[in-house]
Amino acid sequence: MQFGHFDDEAKEYVVTRPDTPRPWSNYLGSTEYGAIITNNAGGYSFYRSAANGRFLRLRSNAVPLDQPGRYFYLRDRQSGEFWSASWQPVGKPLDRYKSVCRHGTAYTVITSQYDSIEMEATYFVPLGQTFECWRLRVTNRSQKARTISVYTYCEFASVGSLYNDLVNLQYSMFVNKADMIDGMLAIASHPYEPMDPANPASPGRYWMKLIGAPVAAFETLRDHFLGNYGTYANPEALASGKLTNFQTAGENVVGVQQADLDLKPGETRELLILLGLGTPDSHGKAVVGQFGNPQRCQIELDKLKQSWHSLLESVRVKTPDAEFDSMVNVWNAYNALITYAWSRSASLIYNGERDGLGFRDTVQDFLGVTASLKEKMRDRLELMLTGQVESGGAMPLLKPFSHKPGHEPAPAKEHFRSDDALWFFNAVPAYVAETGESDFYNKVLPYADHGQATVLGHLRRALEFNLERVGRNGLPCGLAADWNDCCNLGYTGESVMVAFQVRFGLGVYADIAAHLKLPQEEKWAVDQREKLDKAIQGICWDGQWFIWATGKDGTIYGTKNLEEGKVYINTQAWAVISGAATPAQAALAMKSMKEYLFTPYGLMLSAPPFEKTPKSIMGGVVYNKGIKENAGIFNHPQSWAVMAECILGHGDQAYEYYRAFMPAAYNTRAEIRQIEPYAHAQTTYATCSPNAGKARVPWLTGTVAWSYFAAVQYILGIRPEIDGLRIDPCIPKAWPGFEMRRDFRGRKITIKIANPSGKCKGIRNLKVNGKIIPGNLLPISELTDGAVIEARIEGD
Ligand code: GLC
Repeated sequence: MQFGHFDDEAKEYVVTRPDTPRPWSNYLGSTEYGAIITNNAGGYSFYRSAANGRFLRLRSNAVPLDQPGRYFYLRDRQSGEFWSASWQPVGKPLDRYKSVCRHGTAYTVITSQYDSIEMEATYFVPLGQTFECWRLRVTNRSQKARTISVYTYCEFASVGSLYNDLVNLQYSMFVNKADMIDGMLAIASHPYEPMDPANPASPGRYWMKLIGAPVAAFETLRDHFLGNYGTYANPEALASGKLTNFQTAGENVVGVQQADLDLKPGETRELLILLGLGTPDSHGKAVVGQFGNPQRCQIELDKLKQSWHSLLESVRVKTPDAEFDSMVNVWNAYNALITYAWSRSASLIYNGERDGLGFRDTVQDFLGVTASLKEKMRDRLELMLTGQVESGGAMPLLKPFSHKPGHEPAPAKEHFRSDDALWFFNAVPAYVAETGESDFYNKVLPYADHGQATVLGHLRRALEFNLERVGRNGLPCGLAADWNDCCNLGYTGESVMVAFQVRFGLGVYADIAAHLKLPQEEKWAVDQREKLDKAIQGICWDGQWFIWATGKDGTIYGTKNLEEGKVYINTQAWAVISGAATPAQAALAMKSMKEYLFTPYGLMLSAPPFEKTPKSIMGGVVYNKGIKENAGIFNHPQSWAVMAECILGHGDQAYEYYRAFMPAAYNTRAEIRQIEPYAHAQTTYATCSPNAGKARVPWLTGTVAWSYFAAVQYILGIRPEIDGLRIDPCIPKAWPGFEMRRDFRGRKITIKIANPSGKCKGIRNLKVNGKIIPGNLLPISELTDGAVIEARIEGD
């Protein structure tokens, strides 16, 4: 079933049926003022933190998942009938209610029609501002005059702390207050505490203003509007349409304001709702003075679009696969920017329980935004480097607003994870390759706890951390966990995934050292790698694939002799990515991966599922079979499989794996994944589950950055390197070629790849503005603005 389509020209996804299998979300605002909105106007808002700065409420895991939200109810004063400007919450029958939602870059427009009344509700947060704008246009499409009342609805969190707001009601019900002050609703938590002007949300102060019609009446107490046994679909106050102008002190506060519109046939009226941080006096009145008119609202919306669109212009592709293009050009790139902003802290699923930047997640998230953010990434990258402690490991969680490098306590020994700082070997070189700032390696940055080092020094400590903590076979210890949260191997158990990551890191380090002309450093890394290779070859190869761990007692995990968890995707893919596998091992490992793990929805993380493996080794045993870390299709590692196949030159296989988890590939069968066909998901139920195919935890996942990276840098193979742009595609044989426009180091270039003889990989030379350059590296010296680079895939 299809519920919508991609409009790449407008950079929008158009939901044409509102009864999507789950609410389909979008994001508004920035890391200062964050907001989520769904195709039915559900969602919430928060200042900096969804967990502690919450002001618009969402009731987690309710039915549907996205209520309440930012609603407009409309009521015909003659007939008494009412509906909403989004299909939900009233939910009129779909044969009479038409609704199209356009999710764009940080804005959403919902256009609906009911009973000859047309509504267009637009939601966004103006660029750099700490207020949101809801614009409603109402048009009378009937032949007669109509009297329509509009009622806004949102529910204010009683306090910023999500926990207190939703759970600790003996406190939170009594600390909030709502008043109508000079025609503006003023909402306060802890009303008698003075406000800190520098931090308008603490203690909570919010204002809400209706513009475009007089406020006919208002309501601030939820009980009065919904009624004690009313619902969002059927608020009791809409039976009579009468509001009480009650200014509540305590209880559940809502923002209901009524505007009465008299509409001639064909007439359109426009209302604006502005809602933001601070009090009417401190912020509200000034904001309304400046932004509270339709012209300004349109200017701000255009400005917002332009700003987001310019970020997405850095990489533009045209391939024979339109769905692939929608992902690369718009949705995966946008999803990556959203994930970069919010880490794992705010969605309908991450409803505010997680806060701060998960270390390993955030460091990997850089890979999705290097091309769009470029130098803008640097502050965050430096911040994460200062989350590394002097021993080389890292703090598992970094709180960006309170982080104090040099003064943070180092994690307890048993809390270190074995992979955290190793992701720098992906992120840091990607940053340097994109920007050309090789001087970055010499920048001195503090460690989280004490001491400081250059960025290169930080990288070396990261390697030493693992090299100093090895188990009985000379492989790195698994510690609290490796990439797999559930892989709990402890201090003497060994993680093969980490062994491959360290091998990869040593290679990257050697290359950087060579570039910086530090032969001793280079030699150190190469020697360490040789030593590690011996340990890897000594124990990790199982005959047909690589094992995934050794336990504290020496038990081998991921071997043919065991009944469960025999084959594990990560150690096959990373054996290839790290270069540890011999060509024969690589071929067999990838064959086994397909044989044991592939399903129509992607590759399982491991198989067969866990049932008896001790939780102390594989915590994933707590999950049902076929989801998450228990033989689920974890979407994050799919890209590693894709990259490994590309490295081996198997373009058809890489593409098959890619499409199996690519959201857009499910657009016409969206009922399978259920979630947004434009957003990546953390995990998908595998075929051994009765829920097979359903994808879960959309938007904020490591899948996003890696899938973008794998598509652009491995399938399309356009890979920034410190000395230029590597052009090394590995595409399906059936593709006649593709084109990419790339914004690289300040130059706009076009790359045209032809594949006349139906090969996957193998470029022998490049033609740059007519001149032939041998090999597949476009050197910086040839990089001119407007350059056209042509290349042919000729096979190996
Ligand atoms: C989740 C976590 C991530 C971890 C992964 C696998 O996505 O956010 O840190 O690597 O699960 O366990």
